Amino acid sequence: MNLDSKIAIVTGASKGIGAEFSRMLVHNGTEVYGLARSKDKLNELQAELGDAFHPVVMDITKPEALEKWVSKTFGRNHQPDILINNAGVMYSDNVDDLSLDEWHNMINVNLNGVFYLTRLIVPVMKENENVCHIINIASIAGLLGNPSISGYNASKFGVRGFSEALFKELRYDGIKVTAVFPGSINTDLFDKIEGMENHPNMMKTTDISSTVKFLLETDDNYLINEITMRPLNPKDPS
Ligand SMILES: NC(=O)c1ccc[n+]([C@@H]2O[C@H](COP(=O)([O-])OP(=O)(O)OC[C@H]3O[C@@H](n4cnc5c(N)ncnc54)[C@H](OP(=O)(O)O)[C@@H]3O)[C@@H](O)[C@H]2O)c1
Repeated sequence: MNLDSKIAIVTGASKGIGAEFSRMLVHNGTEVYGLARSKDKLNELQAELGDAFHPVVMDITKPEALEKWVSKTFGRNHQPDILINNAGVMYSDNVDDLSLDEWHNMINVNLNGVFYLTRLIVPVMKENENVCHIINIASIAGLLGNPSISGYNASKFGVRGFSEALFKELRYDGIKVTAVFPGSINTDLFDKIEGMENHPNMMKTTDISSTVKFLLETDDNYLINEITMRPLNPKDPS
């Protein structure tokens, strides 16, 4: 896909890798609808990126609100070419300490939210004459289970299964589906996690956005359906 003059939706666009995807896309000529709950942060990003970035204050766990927004924004003459399902939350606790709220929040944002938006965007993409691309941001935690992140693992393994089924379901409709499995990235995701400090050996947000750019720019009949990214040396250098 040539990114120039395309239309993209990025969830979790207010910060972290979602903000970086939005920058990368706008810098390459794409119009971006950036969804998140934090109005101020979305407005700051619009001040940086200009009118090609449309801030959309949205909680992706609310299917009715998503439905309203999709039906008023997209139609026959205005169809998205790219959907990046990126919004996510993480809590870490042993299973007997993980609260119901934490579990439900991870499943609702990381997995249900991906389904709620994708089911609304697929019909509009099917009408799009361009080859379209759905990118689901899972995590290395969607491939490997580990102690104290069972809820996060369950949500991200779910994203992997959803993505694999979807890639096989949508390939003949001209819609690519890629699941992305990054290791640790230097963002705010670990803020709520005790004992998990960010450090310079984590991947940079631009490492991930440049790889996503590469995925999007592949030839129309070439699909990379899964990709894993890791820091070479993941240890804190200090
Ligand atoms: N950082 C890592 O090491 C890492 C590694 C692998 C995978 N990932 C995945 O990468 C994705 C992005 O994470 P990040 O590292 O960039 O974290 P981040 O900086 O904490 O950003 C998370 C984004 O998700 C949005 N979000 C959370 N709940 C939402 C909701 N209910 N509705 C709409 N948006 C919501 C947040 O916006 P608001 O708070 O404004 O709503 C924010 O924009 C996540 O899916 C995460 O699991 C991260």
